[in-house]
Amino acid sequence: MKWLVVPRTPEPEVMDEPEEVGAYASAAAEAYLDGVDNSLVEQVLGFGPLEGWLLDVGTGPGGIPLKIARRSPKLRVVGVDRSLRMVEEAKRATRAEGLDGRAFFVLADAGRLGFRDAFFDVVISNSLLHHLPEPVPVFNEMARVAKPGGLVLLRDLRRPSRLALAFHIRWHGRHYSGTMRKLYRDSVRAAYTAEELRGLLQGSALAGAQTFHHRRTHLGFYRARPRARHSREGGNPLP
Ligand SMILES: C[S@@+](CC[C@H](N)C(=O)[O-])C[C@H]1O[C@@H](n2cnc3c(N)ncnc32)[C@H](O)[C@@H]1O
Repeated sequence: MKWLVVPRTPEPEVMDEPEEVGAYASAAAEAYLDGVDNSLVEQVLGFGPLEGWLLDVGTGPGGIPLKIARRSPKLRVVGVDRSLRMVEEAKRATRAEGLDGRAFFVLADAGRLGFRDAFFDVVISNSLLHHLPEPVPVFNEMARVAKPGGLVLLRDLRRPSRLALAFHIRWHGRHYSGTMRKLYRDSVRAAYTAEELRGLLQGSALAGAQTFHHRRTHLGFYRARPRARHSREGGNPLP
């Protein structure tokens, strides 16, 4: 029933306003987002011990790759973002955590990654998809820079149906206030549905990736190396 689908309302692609960067890195947002981030970290680590190189696309202040690096001593991580302020924030966090030499953050566009083919053992992305007007070139870049059989995993918010939208935003956004609450509402309205995600994947180099729901709020996909086991923690395959 098409009338149940709320049209997507895109939001600005890059988060570069000081207020946005501040809101995202603030203590208020941190408490709730930490739990969400941790569930992604567990999902990625559930594929087995990580070593080599991990790339995080649309890394923001770098919280997720830094958490993974802390738990994976044989892993080096790279985060890319189109916002210079975010990259600077991530570099500050790297120094504060003493992870220099194992964590690197660079300014780059997700649709034109300057890395060579098949370099990364793991490629991840969290909460970038809803910013993208054209996700397919980004999926293609993620596939290109990942080693054949390397883990590629993306997670993002889910846009609910017209009937559920207002309640969904009020209930799941109850942890936020001020700028962060507005950012959350705009992000949910800009997010993709499971059906849209499947369609995008079909037309990309990641066709065949497994899609999943995480709780009621998120969706995503992964392409796992053949011997990987999918972690039940933090993600269930979509029906
Ligand atoms: C909602 S934040 C998520 C940050 C981080 N992944 C996290 O989960 O905390 C989205 C980030 O994607 C970045 N971004 C948006 N479009 C991008 C693009 N085309 N290339 C690289 N980064 C992009 C934004 O600047 C912002 O920092």
